[in-house]
Amino acid sequence: MQEQRTPSSTGRSRAVRLDAFGGPEVLDTREVPVPQAGPGQVRVRVTAAGLNPMDWIMTADADTAARFGLSLPAGFGTDYAGVVDEVGAGVTGFAPGDRVFGGALSRAVADFVVLDAAGETAANEAHHTPDGVDDRTAATLTIAGRTASAAVAAVRPGPADTVLIGGAAGGVGVFAVQLARIAGARVIGTGSATSAGYLRDLGAEPVGYGDGLADRVRALAPGGVTAAIDLHGVETVHVARELGVPDSRICTIAAQVDGVAAANGANAASGALEEIARLVAAGRLRVPIAASFPIEQIRRAAELQAGRHVQGKVVIDL
Ligand SMILES: NC(=O)c1ccc[n+]([C@@H]2O[C@H](COP(=O)([O-])OP(=O)(O)OC[C@H]3O[C@@H](n4cnc5c(N)ncnc54)[C@H](OP(=O)(O)O)[C@@H]3O)[C@@H](O)[C@H]2O)c1
Repeated sequence: MQEQRTPSSTGRSRAVRLDAFGGPEVLDTREVPVPQAGPGQVRVRVTAAGLNPMDWIMTADADTAARFGLSLPAGFGTDYAGVVDEVGAGVTGFAPGDRVFGGALSRAVADFVVLDAAGETAANEAHHTPDGVDDRTAATLTIAGRTASAAVAAVRPGPADTVLIGGAAGGVGVFAVQLARIAGARVIGTGSATSAGYLRDLGAEPVGYGDGLADRVRALAPGGVTAAIDLHGVETVHVARELGVPDSRICTIAAQVDGVAAANGANAASGALEEIARLVAAGRLRVPIAASFPIEQIRRAAELQAGRHVQGKVVIDL
């Protein structure tokens, strides 16, 4: 019988590596040594890694990479899910075999990641994956879920609200639309004509972005819009102001506008991520996976993500 070559038996594993900063063309899949968990650390056998715009933004050029503490050769991707397979000395709360998900800053698209068991930011964290949440879905939750939670919290929607969400069909929009709906609000989401049916399925009333947006929103909501979240740029901020939404109930995540809150996933309420995972497990929030690719096709996956017309999330299977 042929002996199976597992990463543990060969000491080698796959990881995406960059020898230069740049676009998808600099991404390569390499054989690398299997990393070891040191004291206080856990090693995770990654089964899925979710992509975010942040992945290619921070590896696009040396200056941006340096701001995130990245140097060459660098890795790629941050959101991951998998199974703990090695536990370092002094670790409590995790054991081999535990299903986990979280963030491993710019190194998640790899067979293995090593994390601090007590790490608490997307740079370096592990959370138990609840039963009822599959690994592909778990690998999409950390960055987009936290960011959407922070953005929704910034505008505090409730049953009396009509919330305009710009860029609603993207990775963060998946969560923002559903969290605002769970809070009881009516949601109007901007997208292209192609995304209209998809937005309806998420629970938003679709409206096309671009020239004339304010008039289209007025026609949909003659009673007015009471809060707005711009997940793409500044168009939704300007339209919301034109429609009389006060700055205190508008926020952005992808641009800065004086007077308007800029929500950031890193500032999400403690427990926000666990709450999103619980909502998924309970079947109250779902994450559409737009496409999945094997690690060897990382360039295709990154190109798709960077095209900025993905509906939902892009995942790498490992
Ligand atoms: N502050 C933070 O902590 C934080 C965290 C995560 C992300 N971000 C930033 O937030 C932005 C959104 O992230 P994401 O993960 O949702 O990105 P994404 O998944 O790449 O967003 C893709 C979506 O953008 C929509 N879109 C494209 N052009 C648009 C336009 N002109 N107006 C409105 N929507 C448009 C597309 O809809 P159609 O296909 O229908 O055109 C598509 O559904 C990115 O710039 C990202 O860098 C910030």
